[in-house]
Amino acid sequence: MTDEIPARDLPVSARAPGKCIVFGEHAVVRGAPELLFALDLEAQVVVRRSERTVLNAEPEGAEPNPYFRSALDLAWRGGGPIAVRSVTRLPRAAGLGSSAAFVAALAAALASATGGTDRAALAQRAFEIERGAQGVGSPGDTSASVAGGYLTVNAGSSGRLWEVARGEDRWTIGRVDDPGWVWAVAYTGVPRSTADAVRAVAARFGSDGGGRLLEEFRRVASEGIDAVGRGDREATGRLLTRNQELLREVGVSHPRIEELLRAAEPAAEGAKLTGAGAGGSIVALPKAGRETELVRRLARAGGLPFAVRGTPAGASLVDLPASAGR
Ligand code: MEV
Repeated sequence: MTDEIPARDLPVSARAPGKCIVFGEHAVVRGAPELLFALDLEAQVVVRRSERTVLNAEPEGAEPNPYFRSALDLAWRGGGPIAVRSVTRLPRAAGLGSSAAFVAALAAALASATGGTDRAALAQRAFEIERGAQGVGSPGDTSASVAGGYLTVNAGSSGRLWEVARGEDRWTIGRVDDPGWVWAVAYTGVPRSTADAVRAVAARFGSDGGGRLLEEFRRVASEGIDAVGRGDREATGRLLTRNQELLREVGVSHPRIEELLRAAEPAAEGAKLTGAGAGGSIVALPKAGRETELVRRLARAGGLPFAVRGTPAGASLVDLPASAGR
């Protein structure tokens, strides 16, 4: 992984991975630790000059994509009209970071076309774009898409990669080793709004008993980070299941999530929803050697499953063929 996104003239193409949150979603927004990894499923964009600014050749009058709009405002002021094409294997609004991957890839391409950038600045920029579109949230998703690999947020300074800031808020992003595990993720088919889920959970944390709950989220994520760090599958599985109980308690589970979790149980060390919840996806840690069985169980229960691993590759430029107009 190079730490730079080099300068190039348009057309420019870039790619970035989605993410899977293992521990700590929602509580991370209130400063608690989070563990997540960049998935080996990605988004790719191609940006070229054009007569008018369009995303995926959307017809005039189509509802503008808020992430695209936010990227243009923050990273392409006065840059002239561009046509952007994006492709991805990540299901949208599914908790697997399709927006963060799109934003990180687009921010990388626009940064390249405006002189290049380093990775820490790209992580800050990608977060600002996502936050501008969503209005709420923490920088874990966009940092995973920019950095690749396994990352922690708010977990102290060990392995520190960079800090992302917004006003008075600061999030420290750290690097941890990839345990080399294959995980199963499965989309319920129920799309959800991250912003709505984050606002509902914020209200819950701010109400009676919210402080105690947040402390328990904090404990589970810290112990989870240690368990993954020492490659302890059993302890990781137990903590995944405990994290799910907490997510249920703050109201972001969903009947389809619970069905997939039940289907996963016999072949998994543990499982939970991943991302904002209220629909979206689950992540399950397979019992050793039972990865395929777990994926089959999730498919039979009506999920859209993927066997995934961490990818070390963060956002990067993609070489375009000479026929692409260079
Ligand atoms: C969404 O992928 C993760 C949340 O914690 C929101 C955020 O941290 O931005 C629910």
